[in-house]
Amino acid sequence: MPSIFRSLFLPLLAGVAAATNNTTIATNATAATSATINPQWTLVQNGTTGILANQMIIVSPTLALLFDLAGTGGPLQINGKSAWGALYDLETNTPRAIDVVSDTFCASGSILSNGTMVSVGGDYIEELSEAFNAENGTNAVRIFEPCDTPDGSGCELYDDPAVIHLTVPRWYPSSVRIYDGSLIVVGGSFNFSFFYNTFTENSFEFWPPKDNGAQTCSRACSPSPDGTIFMISGNQTIIYDIEKKTETRLPDLPNNVKIANPFDGTAQMLPLSPPDYIPEVVACGGTTTTEGILPIQLSSQDPASSQCSRITLTPEGIKQGWAVEHMPEQRMLPEMLHLPTGELLIINGGQTGYSGFDGVYDPVGNSNADHPNYTPTLYNPTAPLGQRMSKEGLPTSNIARMYHSTVTLTPSGSFMIAGSNPNIRQNLTVPYATEYRVEHLSPPYMSLERPILSNVPAKVAFNTEFTINIQIPHVPALVNPEIKGKSFSNSCHNNGLTHREVALMDLGYSSHSFHSSARLVWLDATLEADQKTLRLTSPPNNRIYPPGIAWIYVTIADRYVSAGSRIMIGNGASPPVQDQGKQMSWPKL
Ligand SMILES: *[C@@H]1O[C@H](CO)[C@@H](O)[C@H](O)[C@H]1NC(C)=O
Ligand SMILES: *[C@@H]1O[C@H](CO)[C@@H](O)[C@H](O)[C@H]1NC(C)=O
Ligand SMILES: *[C@@H]1O[C@H](CO)[C@@H](O)[C@H](O)[C@H]1NC(C)=O
Ligand SMILES: *[C@@H]1O[C@H](CO)[C@@H](O)[C@H](O)[C@H]1NC(C)=O
Ligand SMILES: *[C@@H]1O[C@H](CO)[C@@H](O)[C@H](O)[C@H]1NC(C)=O
Ligand SMILES: *[C@@H]1O[C@H](CO)[C@@H](O)[C@H](O)[C@H]1NC(C)=O
Ligand SMILES: *[C@@H]1O[C@H](CO)[C@@H](O)[C@H](O)[C@H]1NC(C)=O
Ligand SMILES: *[C@@H]1O[C@H](CO)[C@@H](O)[C@H](O)[C@H]1NC(C)=O
Ligand SMILES: *[C@@H]1O[C@H](CO)[C@@H](O)[C@H](O)[C@H]1NC(C)=O
Repeated sequence: MPSIFRSLFLPLLAGVAAATNNTTIATNATAATSATINPQWTLVQNGTTGILANQMIIVSPTLALLFDLAGTGGPLQINGKSAWGALYDLETNTPRAIDVVSDTFCASGSILSNGTMVSVGGDYIEELSEAFNAENGTNAVRIFEPCDTPDGSGCELYDDPAVIHLTVPRWYPSSVRIYDGSLIVVGGSFNFSFFYNTFTENSFEFWPPKDNGAQTCSRACSPSPDGTIFMISGNQTIIYDIEKKTETRLPDLPNNVKIANPFDGTAQMLPLSPPDYIPEVVACGGTTTTEGILPIQLSSQDPASSQCSRITLTPEGIKQGWAVEHMPEQRMLPEMLHLPTGELLIINGGQTGYSGFDGVYDPVGNSNADHPNYTPTLYNPTAPLGQRMSKEGLPTSNIARMYHSTVTLTPSGSFMIAGSNPNIRQNLTVPYATEYRVEHLSPPYMSLERPILSNVPAKVAFNTEFTINIQIPHVPALVNPEIKGKSFSNSCHNNGLTHREVALMDLGYSSHSFHSSARLVWLDATLEADQKTLRLTSPPNNRIYPPGIAWIYVTIADRYVSAGSRIMIGNGASPPVQDQGKQMSWPKL
């Protein structure tokens, strides 16, 4: 169905974290420094991106790949002109320019089943693109093969729209990796439009291509564990079955809230737990403003929505509909992503206004949004309705991150926050200026002693038992079963780990308030008697975890979290790949 909303895609999340008890840790007085007694979240500014980081994806243990619009004119140079792609070195906090041929403005992307990153769609704005020698990127498919040099040297982007391209132009597409390891690319605009999507591309396609090109149905997607895709456009939601080519309409988001561009809220899938992997989706922020009102009649001071709506994607869950609760604040342009502990971080955005720039009658500087959300909110999906969200203990920034801001979990376990530019080009003098500074948000576990993972296999098949080694921190509570049983009774067995402690994660692709392809699947795990060998079982099949790169993080006793270790899930073949593992049946929706 045609929609003036630019499509949005739904990523996924999950988690839990209980503040553990001081007494437990304090049993070893010599080890108990004040940091280990009462670890805090921290926020540090360090490094600059050199380009506007309006898209961000982790592509290796040490590198984040960033894309900008061709035409911002940022300080990072390549071939004697401003770059619009960069590899950000997470170890040195420095960017390295990469050569991009086409305009990546508002593109989307993911990593495929063979570990290769693809970026799809983009734009062509004549004055800017020509000035920067950028090619028309509206139907571009850019390919970044796995990069093995820690600093990114020698790694290049393949970008030649004349040779490899989508079937139709898509500016602002949504995309997500599906069960066969390829990307579904949904919607977008076929031509530049100013605020609403005037040139709606009501189709989707796959990359690599299948079924000879574009097909109808638009909106945003997140693959469910049965291989179907959940999509939201405005306040409408559907489940699309790729194989059966059927669309099931689900209840609208409640209370007139819309979350698709230019009314950007966000959404994620909660962590998936064995043995049933029941999918739940939560959608937050956005606005109740009526679509279609001319932007010149809208205000940067219009309040955003604080609503979070959650639904379980089973027949009973859908019958029950959306459960509503509220964030501690309103948010336009937020982003939502998983912590390895299973909680979700809700971050960035503004309390009023809309996405974009110079559209409303009273922009602040050029920004359509105002009153930045400087403090993130933590969402605990296992807490009761109404008690899931808190800002307590989360640090407050002084850097606005509204339109064109990004965030990602990094392999170390901290979050990298970048971007924001509610201006068409670099503008350093206006309120809400082009932002190049990077911030690093560290959950409390970053300042504790950390479990160390080793001997993680490079690749594992679906539904397969495998072992890794773990070095558990020297905290008596963790090695004395009696103390452990008392203090952590809900999360630890005496001689093992529950499935809430080993997170298998896709770190997602951050673009325009959505964190596409992000996913957290809890693995069944047992700690062997030697306290050093962790026996894990990979996800049952390629629908529970679309085949491709994942990161394993282990949480001990709700608070000691390892760094992430990279692992290929599935056979690592190029898409499309066959069904793999143990197939499961799903209730018909
Ligand atoms: C801390 O310990 C007290 C006393 O044993 C217990 O009542 C409380 O629930 C514990 N709190 C946490 C967060 O574990
Ligand atoms: C933990 O200890 C710190 C520092 O002594 C104290 O401020 C805090 O209230 C304690 N928290 C709990 C849950 O007991
Ligand atoms: C206390 O912790 C330190 C440092 O981790 C460790 O070396 C020591 O053996 C521990 N003491 C006890 C009694 O567990
Ligand atoms: C910033 O990052 C660099 C590279 O990792 C590091 O050497 C430096 O100590 C950091 N500075 C601050 C203030 O954290
Ligand atoms: C950009 O490329 C698309 C796809 O080929 C084409 O439809 C569109 O007309 C081009 N736009 C411009 C401004 O050339
Ligand atoms: C694309 O947009 C431009 C500017 O609004 C307009 O002149 C042109 O006709 C549009 N092209 C199509 C195919 O609608
Ligand atoms: C969804 O949006 C439409 C159009 O604005 C509105 O008529 C409808 O009432 C909304 N649905 C809900 C459940 O709020
Ligand atoms: C920055 O934005 C302001 C407000 O629109 C504008 O007056 C100024 O010319 C812009 N500066 C640049 C360098 O574009
Ligand atoms: C992964 O598959 C894509 C699509 O076929 C292909 O372009 C790319 O080169 C492949 N990468 C590797 C490492 O095989």
